[in-house]
Amino acid sequence: MAILVPGGAGYIGSHTVDRLIEKGYDVVVADNLATGHLASVNKNAKFYEGDIRDADFLDKIFNNEKIDGIIHFAANSIVPESMENPLKYFDNNTGGMITLLEAMQRHNVNNIIFSSTAATYGEPESIPVKETDSQVPTNPYGESKLMMEKMMKWADVAYGIKYTALRYFNVGGAKMDGSIGEDHGPETHLIPIILQVAQGTRDKLQIFGTDYPTKDGTNVRDYVHVVDLADAHILALDRLMKGGESEAFNLGSSTGFSNREMLETARKVTGKEIPAEDAPRRAGDPSTLVADSTKAREVLGWKPQHDNVEDIIASAWTWTQKHPHGYED
Ligand code: UFG
Repeated sequence: MAILVPGGAGYIGSHTVDRLIEKGYDVVVADNLATGHLASVNKNAKFYEGDIRDADFLDKIFNNEKIDGIIHFAANSIVPESMENPLKYFDNNTGGMITLLEAMQRHNVNNIIFSSTAATYGEPESIPVKETDSQVPTNPYGESKLMMEKMMKWADVAYGIKYTALRYFNVGGAKMDGSIGEDHGPETHLIPIILQVAQGTRDKLQIFGTDYPTKDGTNVRDYVHVVDLADAHILALDRLMKGGESEAFNLGSSTGFSNREMLETARKVTGKEIPAEDAPRRAGDPSTLVADSTKAREVLGWKPQHDNVEDIIASAWTWTQKHPHGYED
């Protein structure tokens, strides 16, 4: 009786594997290590290196292990990269979902928790964003994930495979002891970049866009702590295993912080100056993204423990200080 975690060596995947192990689950990780780090995978998980687009690789896992449920993270997730190379996203993300659902059908595994994204909504029609709002992605990354949601919907209708799509807003932070954390190459995300500047491995922060219709002209985002996010996956899995129906949930804090507010908070948390300069807008950035996460709180019983940006930044700072060069240290 084990949980299969494709993409369990990635940032959110590795924190979820860690929480599953802490809660006593048997965990099997499948990862091709294209962007993930073997060092981030809890040593009590069983690890298979390979690609989920390879049906033989999946058959080997399903034949060797008794898999009851899946938490699926294996995907590319860099928005600007997806604009330049959309087919990579439709191949790896969307294509990977086809092979995975086919293998689930072959091996009679009927529960999947899926790592979806606020990017499936595109430019929000209203704030805060509700699960029932229209989904019109503005980039191939969001489109690839929306297609994956739709595949699961029809796989449920046809084969009875139950799914939960968790639509993340902005994820940050690290395990509180700083033993695992965020390490992308190249790094594009706001919090790790701010902390690289604080640490001195990067010169300055560029604030992309200062003329948005927001409180201080910079983009507003809704941040959720990666460990709280991991816990939401486990709640969602338990609900499906008990016979829950297929659903989608937003995961965010329901509070928005501007990029300037994030910078100021990081200056307070780290005690560092953190040089920054105003820069032009980055293509494809929506002005404001804030989630209505009422449904996750009510239906899943999700209660985030680190529901403030200070905790998120402080835990990421602990990780950054312990691992100045990420998993290379
Ligand atoms: N930003 C800067 N300077 C930087 C990096 C980022 O000003 O050097 C700004 C961005 O322009 C944006 C904000 O910081 O306004 C947050 O940017 P991130 O790249 O950290 O995150 P995004 O909001 O672009 O995207 C993240 C995930 C996506 C997901 C989205 C949903 O990376 O996968 O959240 O909210 F779709």
